[in-house]
Amino acid sequence: MDIEILNEDRLRYWCRRANIAEEAVNELAEIAGQVKGDTTLYSIFAAFHEATALRGEWHRQWSPLPYDPTVQSVFDERTSLFYVLAYLAALPYTEKEYLRRGIEAQVFDETMSDFGLWMFYIYERTGKWGFDRFMWVWRHLTGELFRLGRLQYVLQDFEFGVTAFRNKSTRRVLLLADPQVKLRPDGYALGAGRLQRDDDQPLEDAPGAAEAWQPAFSETVDGWHGNPIAPYGYALKTPVFLPRAEWECLLRSGDPVLDIHIPRYAPFTAEACRDSLRRAYDFFTVQYPQRLFKATFCHTWFFTAQLQQILPAQSNIVHFQREFYLFPHPGGPGYLWGFAFSETEFDPASAPRDTSLRRGVLDWLAAGKELFDLPGLLFHSPEEWGTQPYMSTWDQEK
Ligand SMILES: CC(C)(COP(=O)(O)OP(=O)(O)OC[C@H]1O[C@@H](n2cnc3c(N)ncnc32)[C@H](O)[C@@H]1OP(=O)(O)O)[C@@H](O)C(=O)NCCC(=O)NCCS
Repeated sequence: MDIEILNEDRLRYWCRRANIAEEAVNELAEIAGQVKGDTTLYSIFAAFHEATALRGEWHRQWSPLPYDPTVQSVFDERTSLFYVLAYLAALPYTEKEYLRRGIEAQVFDETMSDFGLWMFYIYERTGKWGFDRFMWVWRHLTGELFRLGRLQYVLQDFEFGVTAFRNKSTRRVLLLADPQVKLRPDGYALGAGRLQRDDDQPLEDAPGAAEAWQPAFSETVDGWHGNPIAPYGYALKTPVFLPRAEWECLLRSGDPVLDIHIPRYAPFTAEACRDSLRRAYDFFTVQYPQRLFKATFCHTWFFTAQLQQILPAQSNIVHFQREFYLFPHPGGPGYLWGFAFSETEFDPASAPRDTSLRRGVLDWLAAGKELFDLPGLLFHSPEEWGTQPYMSTWDQEK
């Protein structure tokens, strides 16, 4: 079988399109040469390529890609380059799929630039070219994730149990709480802020468990009963009734949403986000007319609720968070820790203090305060991006 990426000209062409730095491409070309010159390596490479690009058997779990011991014994610390080369071998197939679906070449290049960005990230941290996001980039190669300007998007079903409504006359959006998620006395999810997230650990041990409460939700022919959520991400104990004559349901569990992801290495301005959302709304409406998204969703460490107190009001991260309607979730500090300190081990004592975010977070933790991430929803149009409608309205009404 002829594998296009093993031809050096084609390798250089596809790597340009995936935004991979020249030095890294040279290393990939060396690996390709070794694969072509060794029958054992070639048969492992070809079998892997067939399983992934041709049969769609991608490594989809959020865990490291299992490596073949023979490949590891040959390439040692460069083993990830063998596998990223095998992933890049799928690009010609992905491009064909883009052409079939009428998607512009620019979207292909923007989307695949994530390969180059993640390779550079490894280089920045280790001084060596490598790749570790195999559990992430299959979405790019299968045409499920698209980068459109500043942001990346995946169309997916909304998996949470909150339900969203809009008042027909005032246009105000209100979320009602998930009746399955137990809440602390302050209305945040029971378990939020725990240092170690352990799904097997009973929530009975979490702080506030003794006074925890369960929100209610019910639907009748006349409307919906439930516990309202403040856009800052906590639920209120006093239930409300939303009459059908006055409120419409915007989103419920299982509805399609546009899930946003934020790649690194580009300015994170309001204009860049607005332009990206504009493009995404057009793109997904044209590409998925049978599955129109009902809201935009994001779950990121940027939605660590306490960042609004830690960072200055003009911070891009705070602006981004304030555009969304947050809701209760038993998050913790680990999400922020992984992205803001590039570390998975939780060690405030040795963490760097070189940015205002890092200093602010470390001082916050030293003061014994908690941190937890929340998911959020967005219902306003790209044109209204920047108005922070949910939190601003809530602040005005208080
Ligand atoms: C998106 C991104 C460019 C935003 O950065 P930004 O525009 O500087 O954001 P803000 O204006 O809110 O920054 C406020 C402060 O936090 C710092 N900061 C922002 N992101 C940081 C990060 N990931 N690590 C450490 N510090 C960070 C900034 O440097 C700034 O501190 P300073 O004033 O001392 O320079 C940046 O966070 C990033 O590249 N992140 C990586 C991608 C990511 O995390 N995606 C989300 C995955 S869920």
